[in-house]
Amino acid sequence: MSELHRQSERQESAPFEPGAISRLLAGEHRRLERLLELAAQGETEAYSEFRKLLLRHIGIEEKIVFVEAQRARSGAALPVAAQLRLEHGALAALVMLPPRSVTLRAIRAVLERHNPLEEGPGGVYAAAEEALGPRCPQVLEAIKAAPQVRVSPWAESPKIGAAARRTLARAGFSESLLDS
Ligand SMILES: [Fe+2]
Ligand SMILES: [Fe+2]
Repeated sequence: MSELHRQSERQESAPFEPGAISRLLAGEHRRLERLLELAAQGETEAYSEFRKLLLRHIGIEEKIVFVEAQRARSGAALPVAAQLRLEHGALAALVMLPPRSVTLRAIRAVLERHNPLEEGPGGVYAAAEEALGPRCPQVLEAIKAAPQVRVSPWAESPKIGAAARRTLARAGFSESLLDS
C-alpha cells in the first residue's frame, strides 16, 4: 500500500471538518468577549479567567498556528502575522494591569481591531488552514492539547503601566487608550 493510501485511510478514520481550526479559535474569541464583559461588570474572577484563556489563546496562535503555517509555506510568514504579534504583545502587557475600567476598555479596543484580522474568509486562520491543507487535523490536535500557561498576578505599578503604553504604541494604537 502506498503512503498516499495509508494517509487517506488515516484521514477517513479520523474525519476532519474543514474550517475546524477557525471555528475553535473564533469560539474562543466569543468566550473571551463574554468574560471581558463580566469583568467590566466587576467580576474579578471573570478577569482571572479571561487572562488565562487569552494568554493560552495567544500562545496557540504564535507557537502552533503561525509557526506551522509558516513551515507549510516554505518559511514564508503569513501576511499579517507580524502585526498580530505586536497586538498580542500589547494585550499581554495590558493584562498585567488590574481590571480597572480604563484597562478593560483598552483591551476591548485592541481586540475589536485584532479579532477581525484573524476570523472570517479573509482572516489569518483561513489562510493558515489553506496553507496547512492535509496537516490541519494534526494541528487541530496540537491546539486542543496545548497546556495552560503560567499567568503572573496583575499589579498596579507605573512601570507596568509604562510598558503597556509602549507596546500599545508599537502595535499602532494610541497610548491615550490608557488615559483615565
Ligand atoms: Fe490573536
Ligand atoms: Fe485570536
